[in-house]
Amino acid sequence: MIAGVRKAVATATPYVPGKTVEEVRRELGLEKIVKLGSNENPYGPFPAARRAMTEEIGKLNAYPDVSFREIKGLIGERFGLGPEWVAISHGAEGMLQTLGKVFLDPGDEVVLSRATYGLYREISLVMGATPKEIMLKEDLSVNLREMERALTGRTKLIWLANPNNPTGLLLPKKSVETLIKRLPRGVWLVLDEAYAEFASPEELPSVAKLLEAECNLIVVRTFSKAWGLAGARIGYALARPEMVRTIDTVSEPFNANRVAIAGASASLKGDEAPFNEAIAATVRERERVTKALLGMGGKALQSHANFIFVTFQADADEVFGKLLRRGVIVRPCGGWGFGSSLRVTVGTPEQNDFFLAALRGVLSGYGEGEA
Ligand SMILES: Cc1ncc(COP(=O)(O)O)c(C=O)c1O
Repeated sequence: MIAGVRKAVATATPYVPGKTVEEVRRELGLEKIVKLGSNENPYGPFPAARRAMTEEIGKLNAYPDVSFREIKGLIGERFGLGPEWVAISHGAEGMLQTLGKVFLDPGDEVVLSRATYGLYREISLVMGATPKEIMLKEDLSVNLREMERALTGRTKLIWLANPNNPTGLLLPKKSVETLIKRLPRGVWLVLDEAYAEFASPEELPSVAKLLEAECNLIVVRTFSKAWGLAGARIGYALARPEMVRTIDTVSEPFNANRVAIAGASASLKGDEAPFNEAIAATVRERERVTKALLGMGGKALQSHANFIFVTFQADADEVFGKLLRRGVIVRPCGGWGFGSSLRVTVGTPEQNDFFLAALRGVLSGYGEGEA
């Protein structure tokens, strides 16, 4: 440990990102590489955002509007809420970091699933809090009942991704709403809906209603996934106005840049047809790829996000390495405790075909019954 560094920092481990195309090209010298490891949107950025971002570059000598007035208004409108219910951040990630700072003192407890987005754990550890990790159920869904049972007088936060990463599973709307309504005073649910746009709207909890009912809820969303702006880094939270004021006070003042704000605003103001078409294409392809994986003997879960969790009777790291040599980047799930599972982003039809052909090739190398 480096002298002087906070003790809590030593307990955290670096975030493990998916491999990048540049990395794989450097390491393997391949011509064609299809990246299905980071749940990006292959159709973005959409034309309206692209135009607005290009135009905004000329204004980069000036700081952004620190009040984020326009973008807050546009986001709020989509949920039937005013701008004062919206906080902006540098990706959803930035919002999660800020929430850690808002809530967590050393010795506090947080409750989360054993297999979920890795940052919740790391943020909590860095703040000196103790993560209580709850095993998934046998069907790999989040065990809300056990999470609720794990609450103690020291619990401050529940971190919950819905749909969950890496499984893509969505919790029943009613059970999330019931949990939220039952939260004890001083315990807050951070409901991370990074992938919500890929799920059916009617299956998602009614967050605006819950917020207006003054529940202890903070909803986190992002422009990285459905809106195709992962590289721009912009996300947001929906919360009660007094909580938004607290979040805005704690977060870095200019925590979203001009280009990102321009892209996000234009996305919400501009022609939404490309966005809707991308969602529809992703959902269509998700179902097609899921079927194909099942056909190859994989146990693929029914995803509500833009990725698929699939298990074969083979070592996932090995399959990942073999796919990599064929130019396909996926995510092996050993780090989440699933040594035979892969998480595969749903790409364009052409990318998905390339992946499925590569996987067929890899699996044909295994003995019968193994894959
Ligand atoms: C569940 C979940 N939350 C948040 C994020 C972070 O998103 P962003 O790119 O907005 O920081 C991710 C990214 O993969 C995610 O899977």
